[in-house]
Amino acid sequence: MQIPMVNLKQQYLDLRDELDPAFMSALESTCYILGPNVQALEQEVAAYCGVRHAISCASGTDALHLALVGAGIGAGDEVITTPFTFIATAEAIAYVGATPVFVDIDPATFNLSIDLVEQAITERTKAVMPVHLFGQPADMMALKALCDNRGLALIEDCAQSFGAEVGGKKSGALGLAGAFSFFPSKNLGCFGDGGMVVTNDDEIARKMRVFRNHGSEKQYHHSMIGVNSRLDELQAVVLRVKLPRIDEYNRLRRRNAHRYTELFTGTAITPPFEDGLGLHVYHQYCILLDDRAAVQKALADAQIASAIYYPIPLHKQEVFAAQCRDLKCPVSEEVASRVLALPMFPELSLEQVERIAHTVLEAL
Ligand SMILES: Cc1ncc(COP(=O)(O)O)c(C=O)c1O
Repeated sequence: MQIPMVNLKQQYLDLRDELDPAFMSALESTCYILGPNVQALEQEVAAYCGVRHAISCASGTDALHLALVGAGIGAGDEVITTPFTFIATAEAIAYVGATPVFVDIDPATFNLSIDLVEQAITERTKAVMPVHLFGQPADMMALKALCDNRGLALIEDCAQSFGAEVGGKKSGALGLAGAFSFFPSKNLGCFGDGGMVVTNDDEIARKMRVFRNHGSEKQYHHSMIGVNSRLDELQAVVLRVKLPRIDEYNRLRRRNAHRYTELFTGTAITPPFEDGLGLHVYHQYCILLDDRAAVQKALADAQIASAIYYPIPLHKQEVFAAQCRDLKCPVSEEVASRVLALPMFPELSLEQVERIAHTVLEAL
C-alpha cells in the first residue's frame, strides 16, 4: 500500500539517532528485568498523567487485568462495559472470574451510553469499565458521578487514549484506575507488547505491583498468587524516547482528523463526532458509510489501506454467545456494519489526507 494505516518504519527512522544508543546502553547494563528504564518510565508516566502511581506490565490486556485485581473485582461480580471494543476489554473481566455486562453505545461517540449503564446496574455490579474508543474520551463526568453515587469502581480502558483529556485531567486519571496499551500501533507504542496502569490509590497500586511480579514484594516471599507480567527494559527505552513527543504526535493526529472532517462535511459521509467531552486524540479516524465495500475497494485500488474496527461487537462473538443469546445492542450492531477506519498516524501528511478523502468521495 502506498498509504498504510500506520507508518512505524518512518517513526523509527525519525527517532533512530536517539533510540539506537539508548538501546545499546540498556543492553550493556544487563539490567533486563524491572531495570532503571522501567522504573524511570513509571515515574515519567505518573507525572505525565498527574497521578501518584504508574505500574507497568507486559500488555494492555494485562494492565486491565491488574486494574481489576487491584480493585478487588472477582468471581460472581458484574462489570458493565461496551460491546463495541477489542476483545481484551471483556477478556480481562473474565480473567478475574467476573461477568462482562454489555450495554449499547451512544451513536454519536461510539462510547458507552450513560442511561443504559444506569439501567444495567444490579446488586452484583461492582465496576464500570468505559473504553475511550478511537481516542475519544467517554462521558467521564457523568460516569464518575454515577459510580460515586452507586459505590462502583470506575476503571478506564485507555488503550487507545494516551494523552486524551477530560476537564483538564488526562485519561486514566479520572477513575479508580486507568489501563494503557503500548502495542506498536497505539498513540504511544513500543516495539512489542507493553502496558501500564495508573492510579491515585496507594493500596491498589501496591496490590498491582505485587500481583504483576508473581505475588511477590520481596524476592522468594509470595503473599498471593500473581502473574509474570513485567514491562521489558528495552520497551521502556523506546517509550522513554517517545513519551516527550506524545503531545506533538497527538497534535498531528488531530490536525489530520480535522482536515478529513473538513473535506467530508456536507457530503454523504458521517465523520466522527467531536464534542465538548474532552480532548480527542484520534487513535483512529472512523467514518460511517452505507456502501462500505465499494469504498474499501476504491481505496485498495488506489493503494490506500483501510480497516474495519470492529466488524463483530463482543455480544455477537462466539465466546459470549451463550451469555448474550437474547441481548440486543442495535447501535453497536449498526455501527459495526458501517464503520471504516482511514489511515491515521502523526507522519501522515495533509496531502495524503486530501488524496484519501478525495478517493472516498469519488467512490460515492
Ligand atoms: C480498547 C482496547 N483494550 C485493550 C487492548 C489490549 O491491549 P494489548 O494489545 O496491549 O494487550 C486494546 C489493544 O489492542 C484495545 O484496543
